[in-house]
Amino acid sequence: MSRTDDLQQRFQAFAGRPGRVAFAPGRINLIGEHTDYSGGFVLPASLALGTWTVAAARDDRKVRVLSEGQHETEVFALDIAPAAATKRWSDYVAGVAWALQQAGCKLRGADLLIASDVPMGSGLSSSAALEVSVAHALLAVAGASLSPLQIARVCQRAENEFVGARCGIMDQFAATHGESGRALMLDCADYSWKSAQLPAKHCWVVANTMVRHALAHGEYNVRRAESEELTAYMHRRIPQRTRLAELSIAETKELMSGLPATLASRLRHIVGENRRVHEAYAALDSGNVALLGQLLFASHGSLRTDYEVSCRELDILVDIAGAVPGVLGARMIGGGFGGCTLTLIEAQHVETLLAQLRLNYVQSTGREPATYICEFGGAGGMLA
Ligand code: GLA
Repeated sequence: MSRTDDLQQRFQAFAGRPGRVAFAPGRINLIGEHTDYSGGFVLPASLALGTWTVAAARDDRKVRVLSEGQHETEVFALDIAPAAATKRWSDYVAGVAWALQQAGCKLRGADLLIASDVPMGSGLSSSAALEVSVAHALLAVAGASLSPLQIARVCQRAENEFVGARCGIMDQFAATHGESGRALMLDCADYSWKSAQLPAKHCWVVANTMVRHALAHGEYNVRRAESEELTAYMHRRIPQRTRLAELSIAETKELMSGLPATLASRLRHIVGENRRVHEAYAALDSGNVALLGQLLFASHGSLRTDYEVSCRELDILVDIAGAVPGVLGARMIGGGFGGCTLTLIEAQHVETLLAQLRLNYVQSTGREPATYICEFGGAGGMLA
């Protein structure tokens, strides 16, 4: 039975009628970490992993949603507002319903069933996959439509203003614009983008630390506030610059000299990481995988030391990968403080990498890492 038929059957059991099926993918980010919310550059690629939402309209103004992953059903009214957020998984669903209506969409009540194979909180963008698939499903049952960019922005707004995580646009953009087997280089200031083919003879391996440290959410918002402080400082000192991503090396040094040590390090990460995105895109485009790999290692070092969003478990996985033959580069991905690493490796060495990751990570941490060899997929949308 196909995945869609299987979901339809489970939806029939839940709601007693057939539904429409929406899908949205998770993503890896090749490089460009913690650059999106200051209007910089990112280089994500969408995965075949993702989240499905099956939906059928109701006659009242309620949304009843079953999350198969959470084994829970929640009900909320369509006119829900951010003040009613519960700090639970269903906020992502209610937040999307709220943000769609804020964007002028006339929604109908709906029964929703959600199933996902993106591990939650792992840095593979489980939240955006959920939001974007719910958005497609709610729009479809209401007979409404929005452009992919509008959907991405609505979902970001849901997460920022309803859920309370001040994420950038990268994840929602990747889930709405992904192209199979290609990485998107997105300019988060104006949403312009271009894409490049991923290398054919190499694999991207995701390794999950299986930890998510409690400070992740709060520290993410702190980093975002710091980047806003840096932008305001730049505007005062170099008014002709509109965003941190545009600073030259000389300007960065000049700004750093007037900043406290922590903010200076944050600035060095943001400027360096934006530069690495441009270099990585050029490396992809010209097939220079060795350079791409070096950029991944450099990105990890910067996230660890200057941006301070890594953790012991992520560093261990990157170090293990770095010692395996055929590995070109590795780094943490996503918000940090746990979640996953990404390793670029020659295809013939993948099995050695998987074995080494398992053996050495168990030895160092007592935990078994989950690993995944990336398969890539396209943009989210309606499947049936
Ligand atoms: C999370 C956010 C993204 C981005 C990354 C860090 O995944 O959702 O917007 O900021 O962290 O690069």
